[in-house]
Amino acid sequence: MADTRANRRFRSQEWFDNPNNPGMTALYLERYQNQAFSREELQSEKPVIGIAQTGSDLAPCNKIHVFLMDRVKAGIRDAGGIPMEFPVHPIQETGKRPTAALDRNLTYLGLVEVLHGYPIDAVVLTTGCDKTTPAMLMGAATMDIPSLVLSGGPMLDGWWKGKRAGSGTIIWEGRRLLAEGKIDYEEFMERTCASAPSLGHCNTMGTASTMNAMAEALGMSLPGCAAIPAPFRERMEMAYLTGKRIVEMAYEDLKPSDILTREAFENAIVVNSAIGGSTNAPPHLQAVARHAGVELDVFDWQKIGFDVPLMVNMQPAGIYLGESFHRAGGVAAVMAELRKAGRIHEGCMTVTGRTIGENLEGRESHDHDVITTYDAPLRTKAGFLVMSGNLFDSALMKTSVVSDDFRSRFLSEKGKEGTFEARAVVFDGPEDYHDRINEVALEVDERTILFIRGVGCVGYPGSAEVVNMQPPDRIIKKGIDHLPTVGDGRQSGTSESPSILNASPESVVGGGLAYLQTGDMVRLDLNECTLNALVSEEEWESRKAAWTPPDIVNQTPWEEIYRSTVGQLAQGGCLELATAYQRIREQLPRD
Ligand code: FES
Ligand code: MG
Repeated sequence: MADTRANRRFRSQEWFDNPNNPGMTALYLERYQNQAFSREELQSEKPVIGIAQTGSDLAPCNKIHVFLMDRVKAGIRDAGGIPMEFPVHPIQETGKRPTAALDRNLTYLGLVEVLHGYPIDAVVLTTGCDKTTPAMLMGAATMDIPSLVLSGGPMLDGWWKGKRAGSGTIIWEGRRLLAEGKIDYEEFMERTCASAPSLGHCNTMGTASTMNAMAEALGMSLPGCAAIPAPFRERMEMAYLTGKRIVEMAYEDLKPSDILTREAFENAIVVNSAIGGSTNAPPHLQAVARHAGVELDVFDWQKIGFDVPLMVNMQPAGIYLGESFHRAGGVAAVMAELRKAGRIHEGCMTVTGRTIGENLEGRESHDHDVITTYDAPLRTKAGFLVMSGNLFDSALMKTSVVSDDFRSRFLSEKGKEGTFEARAVVFDGPEDYHDRINEVALEVDERTILFIRGVGCVGYPGSAEVVNMQPPDRIIKKGIDHLPTVGDGRQSGTSESPSILNASPESVVGGGLAYLQTGDMVRLDLNECTLNALVSEEEWESRKAAWTPPDIVNQTPWEEIYRSTVGQLAQGGCLELATAYQRIREQLPRD
């Protein structure tokens, strides 16, 4: 990049050095001076670098960032910038009720207001727990000032009795063992806590590791950033380098809009399949794309990503955890292997000021047991299928977690491989599911598909991670761990359930799931990517005509605002009105 330091006037100088409005300028100066900054530096041509702090006592997955701040600020100082850390609304996946997903858009809104309304020229986005990464990227896309993601990194690997204990996966396994009576409540708690041995986010390829990988694949973090475990020395080094680099980005005016192109999103989709990434990635990336003004839709995930092989052997699709993934080379190694196979758009600009192809020079997998080559993968065609039919316009199915056992039991009927007809059992929300799943009168057997509705963005609100419903205890005792499940909510990225989820539109806004009844027959066809209720059109229409939307009860003002403005998961679950605001840094706020 050219030397851009000469005659650069940053937007922060509109606050701190504006002779046209001495009164306001004095007010801005005196109060920032009274903490740590001198008038000289505030009025200098140095950029003010905001650091969006997502860590706190309420947000343990991101708490490592509190300890990384010294290194980030040192990097910013060494490169000639002025660091200003500020808090953002916490989003803790395992803390916030009714769901952290409700708060992604709130954090996004808060970030946009801070970036727009304060003297900030560029920003370090601290990420970790599931929704923190998309919230930060969405805000950066809307504002369009130079922005650089710093991941906090996963926890160390968890271990329980000599076996790897992964975040989330230990819970799904434990729930089954509990249902079978093989462990008790105490052991369930102990096993689960063993999966979280240090600071950091989930150590599996759940939504957190996925979304941090997506940030790196998009070109929004420094190469190698996503996978370094939180407590590692390299994590502190990455924090320092991120601080240094964001100052250069401010001078270069290298913005999200230079990086977040259609091709960058296509790279991210390919990487998501290769890592066995979370089903939460499509709505989150869709949201980032919409705020960046990039055309993307849910069917792109199948078109671009389905035929990509699974190359990362990490739970829930494989066996390893975050430490092994990092040692094998992390996201950059996966992308390097994909690049050799011609699956990466090499020309995409990244935060380094170089293209992704240039960044990947010299990278490769150091351990083919953990990160395979493209030609010798763990599984071929490992991306998402996008299903449709009379129950919804679109829903996702993650194929990398469909076990051979499941395939042979449900999807290999003679002469019609990949199809399955079954009786539907329908639940209205997770409470209804927990109340009734073990009722014998429901007649759930190994030929049943379990449905859950009322758990989408508007219905829950925020869309709940509940679609991976466990079969009744008596079915699990027969050795059947999974039944096919379908719903208008989401499921945890750590789940290995072969569910059909994120069904859009959701039932409470009149999506087809609203008209399904327990006892209806449904037909799943993986060749055609369809799921249909086998109900006559007249009957279907008469159910539709008789349907009334359920009562919605908001418990907080934000729930009401959220529900009145949110779109569907297939469109990213965005605040629809917010998507009209793009590149807003082009207009300064009034003084
Ligand atoms: Fe925060 Fe998994 S719960 S990363
Ligand atoms: Mg989750």
